[in-house]
Amino acid sequence: MPTTASGLPDDHFQKQLLSARRPATSDADWQSFEARFDREFSRLRSLFHRIYGPEADAELLQVVLDAAASWQDRPADLKGIDASRAMTPDWFQSHRMLGGVCYVDLYAGNLAGLRERIPYFRELGLTYLHLMPLFAAPAENSDGGYAVSSYRDVDPALGTMDDLAALARELRDSGIALVVDFIFNHTSSEHTWARKAIAGDPEYRDFYLIYPDREMPDAYERTVREIFPDDHPGSFVQLEDGRWIWASFHSFQWDLNYRNPRVFRAMAGEMLYLANQGVDIIRMDAVAFIWKQLGTTCESLPEAHLLLQAFNAVCRLGAPSLLFKSEAIVHPDEVVQYIDPGECQLSYNPLQMALIWNSLATREVSLLAQALERRHSIPAGTVWVNYVRSHDDIGWTFSDEEAAELGVNGHDHRRFLNAFYVNRFPDSFARGVPFQDNPRTGDCRISGTAASLAGLEADDDAAAVARILLIHSIILSTGGIPLLYLGDEVGQLNDYSYLADPAKAGDSRWVGRPAYPADRYATRTDPGTDAGAIYTRLRHLIKVRKQTPEFGGGQLVPFNTNNPHVLGYQRPGLLDGEPSTVVVFGNFADTPQKITADTLSGLPDTALELITGERCRLHAPLTLEPHGVRWYRTP
Ligand code: GLC
Ligand code: GLC
Repeated sequence: MPTTASGLPDDHFQKQLLSARRPATSDADWQSFEARFDREFSRLRSLFHRIYGPEADAELLQVVLDAAASWQDRPADLKGIDASRAMTPDWFQSHRMLGGVCYVDLYAGNLAGLRERIPYFRELGLTYLHLMPLFAAPAENSDGGYAVSSYRDVDPALGTMDDLAALARELRDSGIALVVDFIFNHTSSEHTWARKAIAGDPEYRDFYLIYPDREMPDAYERTVREIFPDDHPGSFVQLEDGRWIWASFHSFQWDLNYRNPRVFRAMAGEMLYLANQGVDIIRMDAVAFIWKQLGTTCESLPEAHLLLQAFNAVCRLGAPSLLFKSEAIVHPDEVVQYIDPGECQLSYNPLQMALIWNSLATREVSLLAQALERRHSIPAGTVWVNYVRSHDDIGWTFSDEEAAELGVNGHDHRRFLNAFYVNRFPDSFARGVPFQDNPRTGDCRISGTAASLAGLEADDDAAAVARILLIHSIILSTGGIPLLYLGDEVGQLNDYSYLADPAKAGDSRWVGRPAYPADRYATRTDPGTDAGAIYTRLRHLIKVRKQTPEFGGGQLVPFNTNNPHVLGYQRPGLLDGEPSTVVVFGNFADTPQKITADTLSGLPDTALELITGERCRLHAPLTLEPHGVRWYRTP
């Protein structure tokens, strides 16, 4: 049937859909798909029309048929998960959630090795495991797997797709949700789509953004920022035949052209395929970059949101329990725009992450307290993923206007933070490494492990251990899902061996991606070692969190401690059905700090301190030891 300017007639979709039903599909199964179709289709269609216009209805029909096929292929156990999560849609907001992230090869060799680590994940209390990209990728440099050559093949060095599906099942049996990346902004230059595109295959020619000369690249680059200037300046790389192709990240990562609805359909297919392997949550990589518009920054444009919402709607049809986590490491105003039950239900919290490090460096909490007050609240049905660091660099993405209100000059302050974290500031405890130091723009970010950034590589171990526990206590108590970079819980240090590998030497983020620190894990239960001091105390904080329902969800009320070094907030919630609040204090100074009796006078007389299990009086002045933490439950 030809499409017209007004698109296909409404009932056409329904008729076509009936023909997609396979004889083996049971009535109940098909009806559940139809019910979701009835609920979601008009949303999906209106999103599609806003992005592509009604002319693209034929492509939309294919997307819907793909979703119907994928649903019918979906294994029965995953349909069971769909049904049970529909009954408990807030499962990922629980205070029992704890995330971990690792590279399969670095942490365990391969997928088989990773299975053997499941008992440890249970010991730690993980309920969420993010495996860094594990798909087929270029051999030499693949940006740590973020250049994908096939979304349907696991890197053979790690295992097979069947191994991944089996692992997903085993993790689920241990109460651990599997998270993998959905790298949908770009593919590697070795992906078949990419090869066909540059060969001029009419089906794939428009899958990427290819220009005959510098005219359009120059025009775009007037307003687009450079992401990896050490790799190539600007956002384009030249092909062997002289043409230019859009590559926001590395020269071998080619941006997909989402103005072509076929690209949407193709990636939606890859997404549903992954979902059917048993992936619970997909990390939406580089969301800010997916839509380009001349004369703009080409980041976080309105269409980027429409596309994510359209992917979200496709999931509801084909893999209803799949959740999205947004990776928008951008200005806080933009980060929140991705967070919505109809877009991404989870999001990294890069502002909290950056400001935790800011507070450690300055020993002051004003920026962090301001962020908790103004930027913590997100829509119902969504959560922050709180972390102290990821596999990537730390960028100082706070709002300059809000910093100015506190008398902080954003530009100068970033320079200070960069100097501090790369140990170019007198008496800095931090041992970070600059990332993409750009003398032209003055931009720079920081790489390193949590322990090295917090001082464990410098000399005073006790202070470093206390700092590491303090920052983790914040991510464990502000709500949402705390996410550990595995190995940090035993205090792994920077790994400088990347400098000897030509494929990695130019990318300092590798300093923060050490191999499984076996020695440290071996001593983790001995509190006399650094690793053990961190692990046993962190493990205790994790246990306490899991017994503290007030720490679930995201509700947070700031508490002004009247002390510039001490962060305070309250986490109201329910305990056994009764209202209950946990009041949190964290001292970012290297010296003991007081909170006056006056400041505490609004709180009840006594409280249970959850970390020590001691009942305490709250009406005397309170002294916190350097980097000390308190979690007070007040009735
Ligand atoms: C994300 C990843 C980062 C990667 C980039 C390009 O930001 O976290 O590691 O370099 O996307 O895929
Ligand atoms: C992300 C961020 C950028 C970051 C990069 C690689 O997408 O937007 O700031 O540095 O990827 O780490």
